[in-house]
Amino acid sequence: MAASSVFRPGLFNHKVAIVTGGGTGIGKAISAELLELGCSVVISSRKADRLEAAAREMRQKIPPSSPASVTAVPCNIRSEEEVKALVSSVLKRYGRIDFLVNNGGGQFSSPAEDMSSKGWKAVVDTNLTGTFHCCKEVYTAWMKEHGGAIVSIIANMWNGFPGMAHTGAARAAVDNLTKSLAIEWAASGVRINAVAPVRTAQHIISFVSVFQDAHDFHLSVWLQGTIFSKTAMENYKEYGPHLFKMSVPFTPAKRLAVPEEVSSAVCFLLSPAASYISGATLKVDAGQSLYKSMWEIQNHSAWPEAPEGENLDALNELVDPKSKL
Ligand code: ADE
Repeated sequence: MAASSVFRPGLFNHKVAIVTGGGTGIGKAISAELLELGCSVVISSRKADRLEAAAREMRQKIPPSSPASVTAVPCNIRSEEEVKALVSSVLKRYGRIDFLVNNGGGQFSSPAEDMSSKGWKAVVDTNLTGTFHCCKEVYTAWMKEHGGAIVSIIANMWNGFPGMAHTGAARAAVDNLTKSLAIEWAASGVRINAVAPVRTAQHIISFVSVFQDAHDFHLSVWLQGTIFSKTAMENYKEYGPHLFKMSVPFTPAKRLAVPEEVSSAVCFLLSPAASYISGATLKVDAGQSLYKSMWEIQNHSAWPEAPEGENLDALNELVDPKSKL
């Protein structure tokens, strides 16, 4: 059964939104809820075929009485030219842009020491620069004169993002960009906020990492709670159920989140209910960022010694008590 929005029907009638990465996962849930509330949605991502298929699927669910429509426009957000073309095609077709949802992004799992400069740049170009391109273009082409609301989907990176340092750095930068733009664009009536879900389905690609220790291979799995979706689970094939299940103990909610729980937060921030909220990042993580990390640090003795003195003597006595006999 399709999820049903808690917001009132028609809340976003005749509004127009761009949702990057709107054809899959969280972006698809956001697009579907906006459509259900009467908003016309332009979904965008690099993969034209998948995007068109998602648009077709969503189109079928729009009731004939709704003013909403869904359009697929392929765009690589890393390219400023492509973003300009996207925004201009939306304005040509719909004549306005009320909302931008920056959800498109990607990353891969790797220890920082093994990241190539090319890999690092690809992630930062997409997740940070791509978001900047989209914000800047909707602002200059429409929102500067007419106002609007922007929401960027970031991630739970408050304690760093071991295993995906590039995306942690880029998402933290988008958190800061959100604050800068909230001030710079306030005089245009633009509100800009971010939503930080518990690690998203894209981040589950962080899956299984193999570290070689002195004697054997140590298999370390890190997931810090995830957004669960049927598609995401299927993507991980036989690992899917296990990977999702093992993140449950690390969430205070003791269950996974579904994309619709992120989508409702985004709709809230876009709606008049958030008319006095700007420059904020709303965590949708059931308190996971306050809880425990799944990142394991192996036992080691590489840490610098504490300064000599009676405290160190007492400490050594505690950890490695020598016989007094
Ligand atoms: N999703 C992931 N990477 C993307 C990109 N470069 N452009 C648009 N959507 C994306």
